[in-house]
Amino acid sequence: MTDLYASPRLRWPQSISNLEQKQEVAARAAARVKDGQLIGIGSGSNAYLVLWAIGQRARDENLKVAVVCSSYETETAALSLGLQLLQLGSVKPLWGVDGADEVDPHNRLLKGRGGALFKEKILWSTAEQMYLAVDPTKYVERLGQGFPLPIEVHRDGVGLLSDKLESLGARDFELRIAGGKDGPVLTEAGNLLIDAWFDQIPEGLHSTLKMLPGVIETGLFEGYPFQAL
Ligand code: 5RP
Repeated sequence: MTDLYASPRLRWPQSISNLEQKQEVAARAAARVKDGQLIGIGSGSNAYLVLWAIGQRARDENLKVAVVCSSYETETAALSLGLQLLQLGSVKPLWGVDGADEVDPHNRLLKGRGGALFKEKILWSTAEQMYLAVDPTKYVERLGQGFPLPIEVHRDGVGLLSDKLESLGARDFELRIAGGKDGPVLTEAGNLLIDAWFDQIPEGLHSTLKMLPGVIETGLFEGYPFQAL
């Protein structure tokens, strides 16, 4: 694991499950890189490992590679790897890579465990082509089996959203609480997150939620084409 750290004092992430499988996927992604490309990098362990593999290829083969990232985690890693970092939303990457928490048989994705869903949707919407980096455990029969639906909400909209969630079919929901600070998690875009559990994610749920004042984004990715790595 020491290879994955920029320095002994900059240890991110702390541990990665299924490391070997994910590194194989990352190597396949890095093999696609060509000199001079601008590449979008999502968030989470798979995206992080892809970034790391790209950084190593760029260094070993003296390739000029620029990246645009959807989280502090991958931005900081990109800088430590010596890659050029561009501002999300200001450029259109030729291709991008991101992970997911769940993938259903219709290629709908559930994302947002890492709190980067809003920025990830900007990345997915601006990249010309997206590649999905997941291990086989992410393929499910129905979204919401193992993960809640994250809903990114401005702090002033939390009360209104909480009042509505039960009638929208949520079995349970909670404000996501931080691990390394007191109080709630702040997303990559500085908002709060409500994690909502659904037995079935009803059709149109994403649009209904987005109509509510204060809701910034949901972790449902429907109609976002990708190629699996
Ligand atoms: C972060 C995300 C991640 O892409 C998702 O959680 C997958 O993470 P990992 O690659 O660690 O399984 O949506 O907001």
